[in-house]
Amino acid sequence: GNISINIDKTFGFISKEAVSGYEAAVKASNAALHAGTGKGNDFLGWLNLPSSTTAEHLADIEATAKILIDNCEVVVVVGIGGSYLGAKAVIDALSNSFDWLQTERKYPVIVYAGQNIGEDYLFELQSFLKTKKFGIISISKSGTTTEPALAFRLLKSQLEAQQGKEAAKKLIVAITDKARGALRTLATQEGYKTFIIEDNIGGRYSFLTPVGLLPIATAGFDIKQLVAGAADMEKIAGMDTPFAENPAAIYAATRNELYKNGKKIEILVNFHPKLHFVAEWWKQLYGESEGKENKGIFPAAVDFTTDLHSMGQWIQEGERTIFETVISVKEPNHSVSVPSDDANLDGLNFLVGKSVDQVNKMAELGTMLAHVDGGVPNIKIELPKLDEYNLGQLLYFFEKACGISGYVLGVNPFDQPGVEAYKKNMFALLDKPGYEAESKAIKAKL
Ligand code: PA5
Repeated sequence: GNISINIDKTFGFISKEAVSGYEAAVKASNAALHAGTGKGNDFLGWLNLPSSTTAEHLADIEATAKILIDNCEVVVVVGIGGSYLGAKAVIDALSNSFDWLQTERKYPVIVYAGQNIGEDYLFELQSFLKTKKFGIISISKSGTTTEPALAFRLLKSQLEAQQGKEAAKKLIVAITDKARGALRTLATQEGYKTFIIEDNIGGRYSFLTPVGLLPIATAGFDIKQLVAGAADMEKIAGMDTPFAENPAAIYAATRNELYKNGKKIEILVNFHPKLHFVAEWWKQLYGESEGKENKGIFPAAVDFTTDLHSMGQWIQEGERTIFETVISVKEPNHSVSVPSDDANLDGLNFLVGKSVDQVNKMAELGTMLAHVDGGVPNIKIELPKLDEYNLGQLLYFFEKACGISGYVLGVNPFDQPGVEAYKKNMFALLDKPGYEAESKAIKAKL
């Protein structure tokens, strides 16, 4: 089966007719994406990427992953924003929750750096790596982002010290722009294996480029299936699918209508802790794509039932400006059922014979009904199961819906001018060469 969307539980808040009323706008937006006539049309390389990914390209990525797998206990993925979230989302969703504690392993442990500037984080990472055979996948499209550049500088010198410069070169892969940026220059000078991030693919739309695929393959997951799932969703969410059958069209229409009706915050909900970083990836995708020109839904996320014991109160009874989008996984990959206990001191014998997932599903259903009663519209997105194929469908579905949704909202879903402001200030405060005037101006404010 394919992933599906159900918007029935939004109809107490918005009307079916109003959602159908978006058909023309959604169709025009989808057509603008495909014809390349909308805003940001120089960033549409992700659109046909699943169907245009070649077997040779995947084989190159897999061969590179194999070198890292064969030679490393740990691989550090260095990147921030769109340069790490896709990989982490997929790897976390597919990994055994206790994978990182396993000593007998087939694949390297994947850890991350350059996604923050935590000194203690980097110290602890470097300490951990001291006794490990490790490799580095250094990812930066611009090749000049401060956070990953700083982390890479530290890790590169550590790897060279531990392995020698020549051996280190074979354990470093750089993924960056084809010509520009410091990482490209560095990789050329040092002779690293590199992959190119095409100019026309932005970070948050890049999980099917080597940015996502190399770390995912290195973690031991099937990138062919990931691409196959995305390719099927490319068709499903394409121009030939009628509005009512196109989940990306329905999602884009429904969330825009909810937004128009005062639902300013969308909470992405999962009942599966492994999906936490899928939500982090989704937050970046929608937040950076739509949050501009003083508009855009604020993307938030919770992990249930965990957060029902923290955010549940607010969601049930707080300000009614929210709606929920639940990612529901139909079948778990493993089964655990509730055992009988003669003493029944915990009072749980009414659950005997039920699977843990049945309990979880009733929590999901009960929560949905309670939240809808409490004034929270509910969209449900269902995955048949959690695997590479379905994650490929899901992530591409969100990308396609995001492009459509941004156009319906009237913004450019492919730029992020607002992320420059903090960088400018940081560089001015750190006295970066070229920022002399800004340095003076900002220091005068302090
Ligand atoms: O989505 C985006 O464009 C950003 O989140 C970037 O991915 C992030 O800023 C990292 O940029 P770069 O890959 O150039 O280092």
